[in-house]
Amino acid sequence: MKITIVGAGYVGLVSGSCFAEFGFEVTCVDKDTAKIDALNQGIIPIYEPGLDSLVSQGIKAKRLTFTTQLSDAVKASDVVMIAVGTPTRRGDGYADLTYVYKATEEIAEFINDYTVVVTKSTVPVGTSREIAEIIKKIRPELIEGVSFNVASNPEFLREGAAINDFMRPDRVVIGTNSTKASEVLQKLYRPLYLIETPIVSTTPETSELIKYAANAFLALKISFINQMADLCEKTGGDIQTLAKGIGLDKRIGGKFLHAGPGYGGSCFPKDTLALSQIAEQHGTKCSLIDEVIRYNDDRKLLMAHKIIDAIKTAGVNKKVAILGITFKPNTDDLREAPSLAIIPELLKNGMTLSVYDPLYYCGSERLGHAFNCERSLEQVRFAKSSYDAVADAGCVVILTEWNEFRALDMKKIRELMNTSAIPLFMDFRNIYQAKDMTEFKYHRIGQKA
Ligand code: UGA
Repeated sequence: MKITIVGAGYVGLVSGSCFAEFGFEVTCVDKDTAKIDALNQGIIPIYEPGLDSLVSQGIKAKRLTFTTQLSDAVKASDVVMIAVGTPTRRGDGYADLTYVYKATEEIAEFINDYTVVVTKSTVPVGTSREIAEIIKKIRPELIEGVSFNVASNPEFLREGAAINDFMRPDRVVIGTNSTKASEVLQKLYRPLYLIETPIVSTTPETSELIKYAANAFLALKISFINQMADLCEKTGGDIQTLAKGIGLDKRIGGKFLHAGPGYGGSCFPKDTLALSQIAEQHGTKCSLIDEVIRYNDDRKLLMAHKIIDAIKTAGVNKKVAILGITFKPNTDDLREAPSLAIIPELLKNGMTLSVYDPLYYCGSERLGHAFNCERSLEQVRFAKSSYDAVADAGCVVILTEWNEFRALDMKKIRELMNTSAIPLFMDFRNIYQAKDMTEFKYHRIGQKA
């Protein structure tokens, strides 16, 4: 079976290289010539553990190719997957489908034998139907059900763990009204049957909604535990024990109950906004999700003020060392990271910042782009290591739980901070225990300082 994947971004590259690993012939198409040239040499434009070797293996086995030319790839394929971006539309929060529509129009031109057109991108409910209409408009001679079918097959990949999530998914969702298309997709995922992956077969509408509902529910779960953390801080409770206490109840489940500085990334913020807009468009409301969005935005600033207030109270100097600025560990992705709200707020309030992140460095293209406020950037010193960052600081803040922050030499940190007042250590990912942090004024999330 031959597969074309349109869009060599995160989802496209991970899915493409994994399908190639299963033994299918995969062509990834992207308009970005520089990206395709690099990929053909095995150079990966994103950081994802394990992806480089999977791509190299696919290229070597000649099962994975990269091209800017859509025509030959689509003509030869049984399945064409749309994996282009669906960013937040400026102004209204709705998912911007420009790239999806453009990809569909281009794919339509080259469909010849029966082809299943699949949306892997996260798309609002009703998009599969729209895709079928676009194809029929461009190629009126094509008959739905005979020449092509459309299916929704969303991805549930987490950055930093994407290969494992693809190879060992909790479930695969296939949304189509066509038995023929469903059979084709089931064949694609057959290698996973060996490890008994449940397949949820449903309509395109339900499948499209499942993706948004899953992300929104996880965002809600995180926000819930963050609010419980706020309550613990006021009342003397302990959030980690609380999370364990509720998470052991199988109806609740222990995952995604880590309190922190608020969720970020390219998915939760975008998809919660889009879900809220979708609901409004259909004359209903996702008011729980509206509140999650508001609370999560506020929380990031609240974290900045927690730092500012603690510095004032402790009477330490205003130099703050930030450890970790990506939205989570094992990624170089800064999109919607809490750091992007916290750092400018700290600077605005007169703090001096030194920042260390294992994957981020000054001059990185993505960093300059994501910060989008050069003045802040100029004021941040990028350190070469955690120990370099903390030198002469009055306060250390862990914003991202990178593994290399889990066993820091606290004695060395205390010495390097070089302050007569007791320095502050703000652990926003709860990776240390208060009993081991006696040399600092230690703050955790969800525990009284
Ligand atoms: C998320 C979903 O987890 C994936 O299932 C989904 O496929 C993906 O979005 C997507 O739509 O493409 P991702 O954004 O890569 O994946 O990262 P997560 O691991 O979900 O983390 C998102 C944010 O939530 C991070 O900022 C993380 O620090 C935060 N988080 C996560 C918490 O604060 N607490 C937790 O317990 C878990």
